[in-house]
Amino acid sequence: CGIVGYVGPQVAAEVVVNGLRRLEYRGYDSAGVAVVDDGRISLAKKAGKILNLEKLLAEEPLPDCGLGIGHTRWATHGGPTDRNAHPHTSDDGRVALVHNGIIENFAVLRRELEEAGVCLRSQTDTEIVAQLLGRELAAEGVTLAQAMRAVCARLDGAFTLVAVDAQSPDRVVAARRNSPLVVGVGEGENFLASDVAAFIEHTREAIELGQDQIVEITADRVRVTDFQGGEASVRPFHVDWDLQAAEKGGYDWFMRKEIYEQPKAVADTLLGRHGADGQLKLDEIRISESELRAIDKIVIIACGTASYAGLVAKYAIEHWTRVPCEVELASEFRYRDPIVGPTTLVVAISQSGETADTLMAIRHAREQKAKVLAICNTNGSTIPRESDAVIYTHAGPEIGVASTKGFLTQLVACYLLGLYLAQVRGTRFGDEIGSLAAELDKMPAAISAVLADADQVQALAAEFVDAPSVLFLGRHVGYPVALEGALKLKELAYIHAEGFAAGELKHGPIALVEDQLPVFVVVPPQGRDLLHEKVVSNIMEIRARGARTIVLAEQGDTSVAPYADVMISLPKVSTLLQPILAIVPLQIFACELATRKGHDVDQPRNLAKSVTVE
Ligand code: G6P
Repeated sequence: CGIVGYVGPQVAAEVVVNGLRRLEYRGYDSAGVAVVDDGRISLAKKAGKILNLEKLLAEEPLPDCGLGIGHTRWATHGGPTDRNAHPHTSDDGRVALVHNGIIENFAVLRRELEEAGVCLRSQTDTEIVAQLLGRELAAEGVTLAQAMRAVCARLDGAFTLVAVDAQSPDRVVAARRNSPLVVGVGEGENFLASDVAAFIEHTREAIELGQDQIVEITADRVRVTDFQGGEASVRPFHVDWDLQAAEKGGYDWFMRKEIYEQPKAVADTLLGRHGADGQLKLDEIRISESELRAIDKIVIIACGTASYAGLVAKYAIEHWTRVPCEVELASEFRYRDPIVGPTTLVVAISQSGETADTLMAIRHAREQKAKVLAICNTNGSTIPRESDAVIYTHAGPEIGVASTKGFLTQLVACYLLGLYLAQVRGTRFGDEIGSLAAELDKMPAAISAVLADADQVQALAAEFVDAPSVLFLGRHVGYPVALEGALKLKELAYIHAEGFAAGELKHGPIALVEDQLPVFVVVPPQGRDLLHEKVVSNIMEIRARGARTIVLAEQGDTSVAPYADVMISLPKVSTLLQPILAIVPLQIFACELATRKGHDVDQPRNLAKSVTVE
């Protein structure tokens, strides 16, 4: 979910709704805003996207005043209805509250309120908190911050809570545990939000909130305390990207813009990684070289697209460093009692840095004394803050819910990490590392070359727009590419799509192949290893059963051409780096096919970009 709070001289309802629009990628099941004017709370909320809320506000505007909060929801407790939309209020209408996260002990609290005769109007866990706040405030002389503190002490789970009280019309109070919250510090106005994007048009000065902190903002003051009421230390930071980076810049969709930004994003990930001595440098790794030399196992944890970047990384890291490397879905990791310890390096990959599954996994790893290194795109987010070290991908804000430049830059960061480990541990010669690093430097140009051939892929999307199912095959690093290609199509076009290891096809999935089924196959570069020939055989097997084969292969690969109904050529590159190029046509295919079907590719149904619940 996305959360905004504002206090200052501007019209709060407008500032809040504009902020919500920039956070809509975090959830779009419903949206709502509450303002405090003249000792009263006024509220507007609506199921569906923010557009629905805006229509409602155009018909029934909220009063002009300078204090407000808002919410855009990704539904957890209770369906996506008007009634369940945030903000929620207390029985007496004195408090309005928005919430991101899940209150795990909500059933007990709900029963307690019902027994006390409180009449609950929604199925949400949030309303329970609003009611509890209202009851705390009913006592003589209790401030909103004190009430918030008392209520937080009773809550289990993950939450960011932002509240206003009709009787303190100069302040917004928020609490943070396990879900993101940042403060935007303006001149004579202050902001609260899940993400800096919500206030970047007003200020680029921000404050990161820590775990279990309460913040109170008025127009000219920000006060941060801990859950016990003591003053807390905070970290101010400057946001180094501007509003333009978070806008579409002439593209119809953020996703398309982000696909075309990939050469620059990858160049930015690579920037400044070469030392004058020809050595690779990763300055931000705060884990000492001797600790890195002592590592005997690497475990990569991530979710969704980031987990596929992790699968590619496994091939590269094991090959270059000879350290065993496992990849695990973050949501599974800590529940299987994994074997990690002081000589394990846990690598957490997360674009947003806020994914709850990944966050909980790294906490578990640190409890076991493992070293945790984050690969992340979002400065100041929770996962890097709770890790021992971080490699930032510097891709700029990714707004499209389905990750594109996030994925490519995660791949590049993983390669850099693998090469750096090989350098530190001496498992590869310096010139080999140097030539791979030089090849990485050529990737932005190679991605541009792939993008220049987008027409061919767009035509394919037109041809297959009504296909009920599409398969993706690959081997070695081409296998995670197949998985990611299928995920993109599922997420955006809502059609059945699956990725398989090409060699595994004959052990079952080949039964799915029937006449005219489109099958994308990622072919490894030719002439370097056996795999190329094997994948060509796999293509022959499916073609013999009527599949339409769309083959992604190296430029000039004549040996595979006879078995391809369509050939998509990729620039020549080492096998291990090929995913950086091979995924790009698959992203374009999914984006194009989905837009042809009339779908919203920036906000696919049921998804959210940053899932801050487990
Ligand atoms: C969500 C998004 C996915 C993303 C995954 C991991 O499920 O819808 O697109 O890959 O989270 O996100 P992260 O921010 O941790 O990379």
